Amino acid sequence: MEKNKKIAPTLLFIFGGSGDLNFRKLTPALFNLYIDGWLPEKITITGIARTDYDSKDYRERLHEGIQQFSRRKEWPEGKWETFAEKLNYIQLDVKQKEDYEKIGKHIEEKSKEFGSHPNVIFYMAVAPQLVPAIAQNLRQLQVCADSKCSRIVVEKPFGHDLKSARELNKLLGGLYKEEQIYRIDHYLGKETVQNILAFRFANALFEPVWNRNYIDHIQITASETVGVEDRGGYYEGSGALRDMVQNHILQLLCMIAMEPPLSFDANEIRNKKVDVLNAIRKITRENVHENAVRGQYSSGWMKGEQVKGYREEPDVSKNSATETFAAVKFFIDNWRWQGVPFYVRTGKRLNAKASVISVAFRPAPNYSFPKEATETWRPNRITFSIQPDMDIRLRFQAKRPGTELSLNPVNMVFNYKQAYEEGEPEAYETLLLNAMEGDPTLFMRSDQVEASWEVIMPILEAWESRPPVDFPNYSPGSWGPEDMEALIAREGHNWVTLPLPPSDKKPGE
Ligand code: BG6
Repeated sequence: MEKNKKIAPTLLFIFGGSGDLNFRKLTPALFNLYIDGWLPEKITITGIARTDYDSKDYRERLHEGIQQFSRRKEWPEGKWETFAEKLNYIQLDVKQKEDYEKIGKHIEEKSKEFGSHPNVIFYMAVAPQLVPAIAQNLRQLQVCADSKCSRIVVEKPFGHDLKSARELNKLLGGLYKEEQIYRIDHYLGKETVQNILAFRFANALFEPVWNRNYIDHIQITASETVGVEDRGGYYEGSGALRDMVQNHILQLLCMIAMEPPLSFDANEIRNKKVDVLNAIRKITRENVHENAVRGQYSSGWMKGEQVKGYREEPDVSKNSATETFAAVKFFIDNWRWQGVPFYVRTGKRLNAKASVISVAFRPAPNYSFPKEATETWRPNRITFSIQPDMDIRLRFQAKRPGTELSLNPVNMVFNYKQAYEEGEPEAYETLLLNAMEGDPTLFMRSDQVEASWEVIMPILEAWESRPPVDFPNYSPGSWGPEDMEALIAREGHNWVTLPLPPSDKKPGE
């Protein structure tokens, strides 16, 4: 049954149709939307790439991707077959202007068949250097001049640095209206990330203490156990700071730190986020070493398995200076956050996969309790676990049962899986649906992208001008280089112990 009456008939074109992103993420997400009844009945999804496929082979390959990567392992009989009818393939060389006529022809035919003017969405799941040519060549199609019914979706990385991001914004801005450009950051599609705004602004309890008077510091971790896998070629030119901090982590920071929006209007939310980015204290090239730490993984053992060092990975230089770990200390110079450190860290081949935000409160005065009672006293803490567990934990002191007065930190937990039976959509499901609906709230506006590049540029420049002398400097399965402890120890802090204990089990279970 079609749930979403808001979406007009749609023609979705995926550039990079034969690529990994489509195979692992996009088509499985679209299939799940279809099963859940969110797709309009009148829709075609067309993969575009250079590879020579006929529609049958293409559909078969996508079917394999769904079987391997979809969050659903089972679906009602016949669903795949009816979904597959909506899938097409166009072989096209993105640099050949004439080839784009094939897209024009598909649009013309389907518009006639649907009997109405469809929305047309072009998704760029391609290497970033191909985006300008595609964006330019698409403009010859009449439909792209209509800002109400045509959109382009651009994957990250959006630019390689501030200059190239500005150039890309300028180029796209010259061809399309801002409201047609959907810059994806898949972290914004994650349920738990979206829930940060509900937690903060739909409750009377937390917002009054959400400031420098009560909060001591904030930590954001996005750690991974995988190495660079087969993406060495891309990662060599990127590194952890560009790959994770410039986009995902700064977006999480914005959600945690932004002022309450006046409405949930897309531009209002994005304005509030840009305000945060603009208020981040500029790190200068001279003080980068006090505010940022980089690392690269060596070879070693992880969970009983021998793994390669970064420099031995395919397509990586033997003396690569690319960082696979980054930790940064930010301060936000506004009334709410003045003086509160925001520590962020991310890396590959770390001890556990975890995306966690931890909000540490100032300690309560403990003078009234006997000293023995407060030995395990810990300040309050709110922890948002984004993955792998999806939960929110509030730590507070409780009296331990017994005749003596002894205090213990305990957790009050909200766990998504326990609270809601229905499976949560994957980030790409939410984002693809929003792009089809024409809701840009969870997408990056041009000024947001540029502001976040501005934040990290001094670090990038300082690191590039001073090649690391100690790489590789952390072992796989560790939590990163030693220096990361010193980064936050200066203010008397420690990194949160991860992974968090499972939240859906009682202690001792
Ligand atoms: C991508 C990065 O944007 O995010 C990858 O390019 C990284 O290097 C991935 O592995 C992490 O995403 P998630 O959703 O697994 O945390």
